[in-house]
Amino acid sequence: IRLQARIGRLAGRKIVITAGGTREALDPVRYLTNRSSGKMGFALAQAAVELGADVVLVTTNSRYKIYGVREVLVSSTRDMHAAVLHEFDNADVFIGAAAVSDYRPVEAAKDKIKKKSGENLTIKLMQNPDILAEVGRHKTMKQLVVGFAAETQNVLEYARKKLIQKNADMLVANDVSTTNSGFDSENNRVTILSRDEDPEIISLSPKIAIARSIMDKIAKKLA
Ligand code: CTP
Ligand code: CA
Repeated sequence: IRLQARIGRLAGRKIVITAGGTREALDPVRYLTNRSSGKMGFALAQAAVELGADVVLVTTNSRYKIYGVREVLVSSTRDMHAAVLHEFDNADVFIGAAAVSDYRPVEAAKDKIKKKSGENLTIKLMQNPDILAEVGRHKTMKQLVVGFAAETQNVLEYARKKLIQKNADMLVANDVSTTNSGFDSENNRVTILSRDEDPEIISLSPKIAIARSIMDKIAKKLA
């Protein structure tokens, strides 16, 4: 084991980041999920280690290894919820970049669901826990909480509401109505909302550049 003292503006800081889209089982072979690729979460993890942070990435997929990042693989929202609450306890920052399924099937079938010819299938869904809102409720004065919001309309208005309702310190609003930004793209166009600052607009840029801007803001807030 090689022990190395980290240097950088986030040295000694623990940052918990979520990435990817959660998966909700319907039966042993099928699940409900969304179009999130996890790229933004991985870019944030990369930007955080560049500043010397101890990074825990709670993710639904293992895209690639980032030196210095501890990966916690999860699948469902409830798995992610449990992992995040556990890791956040002694963390300085939480960043919720995952696309969390708002609903899950009321129960996952034990056996593969068989089709019945000519009949429709109705699946009843129930609401999942809101990880970001719960972290927001639990945070202490010293902990920073950052959320994301993917919207297709009224982007700033909806994002501002999420910032307040989830008790976050920062919320990154993402307009996913346009092509070549957002889901599964290399680039993104965001507005960063903070409680105590004017919104900052970042025009279409690679996700790693956006991640570095977000991490720079976080480092300033922690200083
Ligand atoms: N989020 C979460 N847990 C959920 C739903 C969302 O932690 N069950 C987090 C996301 O990771 C993101 C933020 O909350 O950081 C906003 O997610 P979003 O889906 O935009 O907002 P919702 O509150 O789910 O509202 P809606 O989908 O209706 O717009
Ligand atoms: Ca949602």
